[in-house]
Amino acid sequence: MKFFIDTANLAQIKEAHELGILDGVTTNPSLMAKEGIKGEDAVMEHYKKICEMVDGDVSAEVISTDFANMVAEGKVLAAIHPNIVVKIPMIKDGVKAMKWFTDNGIRTNCTLVFSAGQAILAAKVGAAYVSPFVGRIDDSTWDGMELIEQMAHIYSLQGYKTEILAASIRSALHIVKAAELGADVCTCPLESILGLLKHPLTDIGLAKFLDDAKKMRSEMVPAR
Ligand code: G3P
Repeated sequence: MKFFIDTANLAQIKEAHELGILDGVTTNPSLMAKEGIKGEDAVMEHYKKICEMVDGDVSAEVISTDFANMVAEGKVLAAIHPNIVVKIPMIKDGVKAMKWFTDNGIRTNCTLVFSAGQAILAAKVGAAYVSPFVGRIDDSTWDGMELIEQMAHIYSLQGYKTEILAASIRSALHIVKAAELGADVCTCPLESILGLLKHPLTDIGLAKFLDDAKKMRSEMVPAR
């Protein structure tokens, strides 16, 4: 499973990259706004900076909702860097736009996916990635992981090439479950990635090893 970070924060992207686990980045208009990025030039410049930091796919979302403008906007985004993947919402014009991008060699990430039916449409029009929003499904009292499982089953049965990108991840457990159920990619907040590190027995075990190492050293070094 590939690890993407779900943020537009450069410091967090750097931290995940330095950990050695980062395969890509996803952003959305809310995450860009959170970083205080305003204006078209600033948005383009920010995506460029992200692409220069990470050797992997970077999803950049269109903000238009009609076919013509999605295509125009997506072309501009795709021209920023070869690693840009144009993120398109799962709406009727979005489906048409994804088909256009596929036919014209531009990769897309179909976002705001909440059902297997939507996931089938995304695969049919050749999206490179499809993003089911696990956490938001959990919020609506259905288990988001059931959708990942259903999509993985359908995609494997039908031989769809679109990669399942588990999104709206809220915890380390979400990451483990996504891997277990066959997601191709998981896009996570830095906090959830770091959550994978944690185990109290690791901390207790390390404290004991360090304590014993101190004793060992004091026995090795003659007292003056
Ligand atoms: O990847 C989609 C993500 O940014 C949405 O996450 O936590 O706002 O549901 P969230």
